[in-house]
Amino acid sequence: MVETQTFSIDDDGITVAASLLRSGALVAFPTETVYGLGADACSDAAVAKIFEAKNRPHFNPLISHFADVASVANYVEWSDEAEKLAAAFWPGPLTLVLPLRAGSRLAPLVTAGLPTAAVRVPAHPVAQRLIHAVGGPIAAPSANPSGKVSPTTAAHVMAGLSGRIAGVVDGGSSGVGLESTIVGLENGPILLRPGGLEVEQIEQILGKSIRMRTDTDKISAPGQILSHYAPQGVMRLNADEVSEDETLLGFGDVAAPLNLSPKGDLVEAAANLFAMLHRLNEMNAMKIAVSPIPNIGLGRAINDRLTRAAAPRD
Ligand code: TXA
Ligand code: MG
Repeated sequence: MVETQTFSIDDDGITVAASLLRSGALVAFPTETVYGLGADACSDAAVAKIFEAKNRPHFNPLISHFADVASVANYVEWSDEAEKLAAAFWPGPLTLVLPLRAGSRLAPLVTAGLPTAAVRVPAHPVAQRLIHAVGGPIAAPSANPSGKVSPTTAAHVMAGLSGRIAGVVDGGSSGVGLESTIVGLENGPILLRPGGLEVEQIEQILGKSIRMRTDTDKISAPGQILSHYAPQGVMRLNADEVSEDETLLGFGDVAAPLNLSPKGDLVEAAANLFAMLHRLNEMNAMKIAVSPIPNIGLGRAINDRLTRAAAPRD
């Protein structure tokens, strides 16, 4: 348990909140949609704490919040359609999913290992000031425990997460109360999540209709995620022993070329997970053994991902 501080929106409050975020702590803050649970989007260790605080049973990719279009374009592949939508609706309740730029500093855990990233520029003045003060993108899902209603006041945030996060910036009520609309732009525009911005407005700016996500897309989504973060090698879970031809992805006090957390810390293991899955590919590890990971707290989310990664595939 930590004591959760409440920050006012004067310069001192924003400065302290920003320095906490820079140091890897979690701070909730208002956006024009809902309160977000913020973490440094370039730090796997910070982002892992989001999943722990929300008690999420699985990892999903998160939205990164930026100060302006120019800084977004440093992290993702910008396009004409992105430019049109950004010019019309940013800052505002629109999230775009775009391919990651090579060398993008976003933490692998933010994108759950995907080659794309969800990005937005929030309009709320407090969110704007906080991002400027941090000097880099802030990853933020809604600031509520997993499965609970999204918060629109600092009091809602405290009711759900007090004792689990470093602080909350109290900027009064969030406006829309509905999460941002998410549009994917990789292969023609597709609506990934309806939200605070009307689809008709987006279609008007693009001058064409947006594909709605169908059930088939939903079913194929986990598969896409699977193929992007799963190592090429065959994975064997709950391995107490390793054979000679296997590469061990360790956890706890074991000798291994890659160890998720030598001291057996689940938050550290979550922070290392996606980066180490990528590393196993770079090492061309074809047979991978994974140490047992306790199925408690963040261990559930880690085991969820490892189980999917270990599932047979063609
Ligand atoms: O209004 C909002 O968008 C709020 C405030 C705090 O900004 N944030 C929010 O964030 O709702 P989050 O992280 O909970 O939203 C994540 C959504 C999920 O539905 C996820 O599937 C989608 O964004 N998403 C993120 N990255 C994605 C990607 N690379 N491809 C497809 N969907 C992605
Ligand atoms: Mg939510």
